[in-house]
Parts: sequence; structure tokens; C-alpha cells
Amino acid sequence: MNYEEDLQSEDSRIISPTPQAVESGNENVLRPKSLDEYIGQEQLRRSLSIFIQAARNRGEVLDHVLFHGFPGLGKTTLSHIIAHEMGAGIKATSGPVIEKQGDLAAILTSLEEGDVLFIDEIHRLNHAVEEVLYPAMEDFQLDLIIGQGPGARSVKMDLPHFTLVGATTRTGLLTAPLRDRFGVVLRLEFYSPEELVIIVQRSGHILGMEVDRTGAFELGRRSRGTPRIANRLLRRVRDFAEVGGHKVVNKTVVQAALDLLGVDQFGLDDMDRRIMLAIIDKFDGGPIGLETLATVVCEEKNTLEDVYEPFLIQSGFIKRTPRGRVATAQAYAHFSRKMPHHPLSPPILFDE
Ligand code: ADE
Repeated sequence: MNYEEDLQSEDSRIISPTPQAVESGNENVLRPKSLDEYIGQEQLRRSLSIFIQAARNRGEVLDHVLFHGFPGLGKTTLSHIIAHEMGAGIKATSGPVIEKQGDLAAILTSLEEGDVLFIDEIHRLNHAVEEVLYPAMEDFQLDLIIGQGPGARSVKMDLPHFTLVGATTRTGLLTAPLRDRFGVVLRLEFYSPEELVIIVQRSGHILGMEVDRTGAFELGRRSRGTPRIANRLLRRVRDFAEVGGHKVVNKTVVQAALDLLGVDQFGLDDMDRRIMLAIIDKFDGGPIGLETLATVVCEEKNTLEDVYEPFLIQSGFIKRTPRGRVATAQAYAHFSRKMPHHPLSPPILFDE
């Protein structure tokens, strides 16, 4: 299996933060349309609201905005909200889809004054396409060389004023010239369990379900701080509740449904458990090198590092050390294992 196929297989996990093929329509129903409806990301929302208001008062387009953060935290939703709040249209595309300079030129020339152009996974634009984006962002100019050799000619044309909204998982993946052309750079954080409670109850209401606070809390805490995962789990819980004849989705219903799906109370699934138990049971808690760990759990090294590990580190189950990955005390407690002498401390030379 190559890396891309491997990432696709990870996409089929119920707790994957990336959207699944059938999901985009479903997600749209639950997306908040305005900043007022949007829950969480308090600081980001406040900043964005001021920038939008200022641009509107001046009758200008909003500066180009770059969102960065883990998948599923709301980058696409916020780009639509920006367009809505600016009273503008939006065209959405993504880095890997724009293969040639001409593809980007076609999109840019189809924009109308004030439009938002949303480019997801903007770090995956190729170099030649990026070159066309620079003058477009800076001077609203299309600057293209058409043809090759002596017959080549340069085409310049004015573009309508627009706001580019870029989304990426990490700003470090962007080239410096591209990153520097964004006037506003905003980072999305994971959501707190309390914020997820409100999001789950809002989504439940839209889907015509009655989710009480205990149910919403239980679902929120199993959702890895990510609304997309919370909303996906909510739909599965709805199936479970309907078939089981449960009118109100409470903690017991959520627990039973998610236990059945193999999602535990911290949001860990089977693969997460395999990784953690490999470190704890086979390697005495570590340190263990990434390559060895990948072999033991039969997974690609890159997938392990980019997909599985971030959440396990973020939630305090794994620590990265210069000598390798180490299971933490919290991991031992969660998996009901007795912790040997702390793996991070130096070996004991003498018995006391
Ligand atoms: N649905 C998904 N994300 C949301 C958010 N941040 N606020 C409200 N509803 C949401």
C-alpha cells in the first residue's frame, strides 16, 4: 500500500478528522452560516469580526486570510462565513486540484469584485501555480506567459479585487513568499468539551434529535476536540437510538452506541489502542523508534507520524523524546497497566 492509499484507509476510521466521501452534503446542513452562530475559537472569532467590520466600513475587500490547524476544526466553514459576512460570493477549490497555471487563471478571471476565493490544502499548490498567485494577491494582476520559446508572449490583465482564504494544516508547509502575502494568519485550536456540548446540541436540534446534556458531554469528550468527528458520531448515535427506540439521547445511549463502534471514552479507536499497547506491552513503555513501532503495528511510518501520533501526543498518551516514543503515566492508567519504574528517569543502579 502506498502512502496515499494508506491515508485513504485511515479516512475510513469513524474518528478520522478528514471528511469522508459521502459526508460533504451532510456536513453542509450543520455548518453555521454566520459568526454569531459559530461556537468556539473565541479569540479568532473576535479578531475576524473586527477585521470584517473594518473592511466593510471602508468599503474594501478583506485582506487575504490564512487559516491553519488540524483537519475538521472549521477552516472551510469559516471561509464561507467570511463570504457571508462580507456579502460576497465564494469560489472554493483546493491545492492539488489546480495543476496548471491556466487552471488558476481560469478561476481568477471568473471571480467577481469582492469575491472570496477559498483554496483548501494551499500548501499543495505547485511552484508554477504559486508564481501566478503572487501578483494576483498583491496587485490583483494576472501575469501569465503563454507559449514557449521565441513565440512566447506575456499576458497581463487586471483582476477584480478579491480575498484569498487559504487553509493548511501547518503554516510551516507553506513557502515563505506565499505565507508573507497573507495579511491575516489565524490558528484554529481544538474545541473544549463544553464547546462541543453546545455544538452537539445545536446539531442534534437541526437533525431533529433530543440530546440531553449528559449525552452531549459524553459524545463531545469522545470526539477528539473536533466538531467534524462529533457530528459524524452523532449521526451514528442517532441510528442506534432510533433502532433501539430511545427517544432521548443521554449518556447511557451514547456510551452503548460508541462502545459498539469501538470508540472509547477518550475518543481512541482500535488502531490507537494497538499502538499504545504495542509500546506498553511489547516495549515496556518505550523509548521505541518510529520505524520499529510502524513495523509492529503494520502501518506506514509517515501515516503513523502524521495521522495517528498527533492526537495521542496531544492528549498526553505518548511523549516524543530524543530516544523515541514513550508511553506516559496517563496511558498506563487508561489501559489499566501497572507502570514500571518511570521510563524517562535514569536506570536504577543500586537497590535501596
Ligand atoms: N458545527 C461544526 N462546527 C461548528 C461550530 N464551530 N459552531 C457551530 N456549529 C458547528
